[in-house]
Amino acid sequence: MLCGRKFRFRSADGAADLRNDMKNTVLTFKEAKQTGRKISMVTAYDYSMARLVDEAGIDAILVGDSLGNVVLGYEDTCPVTMDEMVHHTKAVTRGVEHTFVVADMPFLSYQTSVYDAVVNAGRLIKEGRAQAVKLEGGTDMADRIEAIVKAQIPVMAHLGLTPQSVNSFGGYKVQGKAEQDARALVESAKAVEAAGAFSVVLECVPADLAAYVSSVLTIPTIGIGAGAGCDGQVLVYHDMMGITRGHTAKFVKKFAEAGDVMVEALKEYKKEVEEQSFPAKEHTYKIDAEVMEKIRSEQA
Ligand code: KIV
Repeated sequence: MLCGRKFRFRSADGAADLRNDMKNTVLTFKEAKQTGRKISMVTAYDYSMARLVDEAGIDAILVGDSLGNVVLGYEDTCPVTMDEMVHHTKAVTRGVEHTFVVADMPFLSYQTSVYDAVVNAGRLIKEGRAQAVKLEGGTDMADRIEAIVKAQIPVMAHLGLTPQSVNSFGGYKVQGKAEQDARALVESAKAVEAAGAFSVVLECVPADLAAYVSSVLTIPTIGIGAGAGCDGQVLVYHDMMGITRGHTAKFVKKFAEAGDVMVEALKEYKKEVEEQSFPAKEHTYKIDAEVMEKIRSEQA
């Protein structure tokens, strides 16, 4: 049986290549690394967001466990559960036609055992309908990556500032600055590649180190706070859209002030409701005058 999903590539100017008017896959990542085309990735957590990202022609969506911070209001990503990830991954995958979807494995869904890692990765594919999973960790998680890949599930690794380790790190800090840490990061990058990861996120890593890692790996690196030398970039949707209120990290660029636009729209809505200029005639439905007359007379 031929799968209902279509697979396609996008050229640098965003136009679909008609010979390959199809859905992005792990091969899109491989091809981008080989040709030097930079990969675009952004987080999304629901159907409507996913549709917009897909419409914009972004290569990949990460259903990140940053869901905990920006959607569910948790203090960090540690409380996020498998059920929450599956629920939001389902919503995202229903919204995409072309964009590749990677779902994050939440805290303690893979650290506990190789068995747990495979079963939980499987849920994100089987129930969530993601095409790949992401997990945090390098050399220490290589056996999990290997087992998940053996189960035919593509894995994106995540090195550097791994937010699920916030309590061990003692906060959100740039990783890999000291010689020993930089060396460990390079070793971890090689270990996840050897374990079969198809790509690796480098978060909050000095730009020169990230560029070096990108040059020694054959799989693409996706940077967030790791400079332009990575093979692609990922940002949290709410941060890049200007929806996040309060502090954002130095590496965030706001590509819009959507939060301000939304607040202004909400204020205008409140005003129009209070002054009764909304809803206007064009927002209402008609009923036949005779029917209304009958209703009124029956009630009188
Ligand atoms: O959960 C997330 O959004 C992430 C990105 C920051 C890479 O892991």
